[in-house]
Amino acid sequence: MEYKIIVVGIGPGGKDYLLPIASNAIDEAKVLVGSRRALETLAPGGIETKVIDREITALLDYIEEKIKVTSVTVLVSGDPGFYSLLVALKGRFPVERLVVIPGISSAQLAFARISEPWQDALLISMHGRSASDEALGFIAGKKLGILTDANHNPAFIARLLINEGWPLGTKVWLCSGLSYETEEVRSLTLDETQEISGFEHSVMVVKA
Ligand SMILES: C[S@@+](CC[C@H](N)C(=O)[O-])C[C@H]1O[C@@H](n2cnc3c(N)ncnc32)[C@H](O)[C@@H]1O
Repeated sequence: MEYKIIVVGIGPGGKDYLLPIASNAIDEAKVLVGSRRALETLAPGGIETKVIDREITALLDYIEEKIKVTSVTVLVSGDPGFYSLLVALKGRFPVERLVVIPGISSAQLAFARISEPWQDALLISMHGRSASDEALGFIAGKKLGILTDANHNPAFIARLLINEGWPLGTKVWLCSGLSYETEEVRSLTLDETQEISGFEHSVMVVKA
């Protein structure tokens, strides 16, 4: 029998945003892989778990060994199709071994919070990576949804955008802790965002 790797999008974090199909997949899991926080919150007692750390090759080796004898369920934040471990899993395992359960992305929830369509937005991640000049370049009417991190925080990104010619009065929304009790959504200008601290792991929406 060929065991599967079930990649489950767990949404932005709050339980209300965990889809029932994801919840069922977690309940039926034999081996559960995920961030420490996800496992602490979601892992049923008594099953084998493995924390995702920076050692991705070692993690893929672990999964490769496990699926010789059982299925492995991998929890990823938000949606698996939007900047997750799915890319690394596809690099190691054939697509026939993968089952992907979608989740609600942090980007989706951010746009919902500010009642803004995202069909015309350019969605990019600066979480652990930089973005091209083309992606960040100013065009009238452009809309960006950006995943941020501690280094590429909103203040840093605001300065990059101003260098790229975005007007100082451009509208910005910073969304952190989405779906958690600590959720914060702030509306400000690009000029003000240059001076802002915090909002390190957030979704930054920019609208020209
Ligand atoms: C590795 S990416 C994962 C994105 C995920 N696959 C998704 O669809 O939301 C991690 C980044 O997602 C964003 N993020 C994830 N959960 C969030 C939340 N609850 N509130 C705000 N931003 C969040 C932050 O920008 C964080 O740095």
